[in-house]
Amino acid sequence: MKKFLILISLLFPAAGFAVHELENRDLVNGQRHYEQQCASCHGVNLEGQPDWQLPGPDGVLPAPPHDVTGHTWHHDNQMLFDYTKYGGLAYFATLGLTDIKSGMEGFGHALTDDEIWDILAYIRSTWPSRVKQIQDSRNPPH
Ligand code: HEC
Repeated sequence: MKKFLILISLLFPAAGFAVHELENRDLVNGQRHYEQQCASCHGVNLEGQPDWQLPGPDGVLPAPPHDVTGHTWHHDNQMLFDYTKYGGLAYFATLGLTDIKSGMEGFGHALTDDEIWDILAYIRSTWPSRVKQIQDSRNPPH
């Protein structure tokens, strides 16, 4: 686990990514992988689960929508990537938050980095252009 966290922290200092990770991606491939890996929780139409803002009795949140009604577009590309690859617990651990519950495991074992970027690009492709621009502006220049 320790090794894993060191690996994550090494990945964090936004090292040399291409200009826009979510541009010129394979959206068809992204949609296919989204349907196989994400839709069971986040919804076939990216609508999320009902009452997604209210934790269940076990303290775990339902899956939020990835469409424009959710908060996916509030986050920068790297956060979305890390959350998807390493899962909620590992992501929050990098922020020093360990007393937290997550309903989402990492997909690093099931998806390649390119497949994750394709999925995120597919999600982005469903947002109106105004929202795309806002989300773009959350990415540090690199
Ligand atoms: C087993 C159900 C489940 C599956 C499958 C799942 N997620 Fe999640 N996801 C969640 C839950 C629940 C949350 C809410 C936060 C938490 O509990 O970690 C979440 C949160 C997120 C977030 C952070 C919140 C946001 O909107 O930015 C991202 C990004 C995300 N998921 C992406 C994905 C992607 C991409 C896939 C497919 C590769 C996926 N998830 C598959 C349950 C799931």
